[in-house]
Amino acid sequence: MTQRTLVLLKPDAVQRGLVGEILSRYEAKGLSVVAMELRTIDAAQSDRHYAEHVERDFYPPLREFVTSGPLVALVLEGDSAVEVVRALNGATDGRKAAPGTIRGDLSLSNRENLVHGSDGLESAAREIALWFPELAD
Ligand code: RTP
Ligand code: MG
Repeated sequence: MTQRTLVLLKPDAVQRGLVGEILSRYEAKGLSVVAMELRTIDAAQSDRHYAEHVERDFYPPLREFVTSGPLVALVLEGDSAVEVVRALNGATDGRKAAPGTIRGDLSLSNRENLVHGSDGLESAAREIALWFPELAD
């Protein structure tokens, strides 16, 4: 089933010069870029994006991190895109993520883990509407 999912290349990915490396993995897998934009977000956008996490202990430093510099927001499309992106991204904690995944190969952190991918179809629809309202259906 063709799906769309919202992906963020977080500020660590931009700062470390890994945008091309990470984007090439999604493209090589066969996913298509539907929208892409370099953007620096404020605290309000972080709160909306991470609505499910705003009360968590780890959220204040996470917000600090995602607002610290430019990130790349994109929408990817393809067969089972939501699940495929999550698999390519790997486990949340880069120290535990499997080799071969983006986080497993390139991150050594539980917070600065380079990428975000929507965790389900409902989240994908919500997040795409939040980041790219012109694509909302
Ligand atoms: P994401 O939403 O970014 O795709 O990552 P995820 O689903 O694998 O992880 P999630 O549980 O949604 O957490 C969102 C982001 O918060 C940071 N985090 N820090 N204990 C911690 O310090 C902690 N736990 C999570 C990570 O940046 C994670 O991607
Ligand atoms: Mg998540």
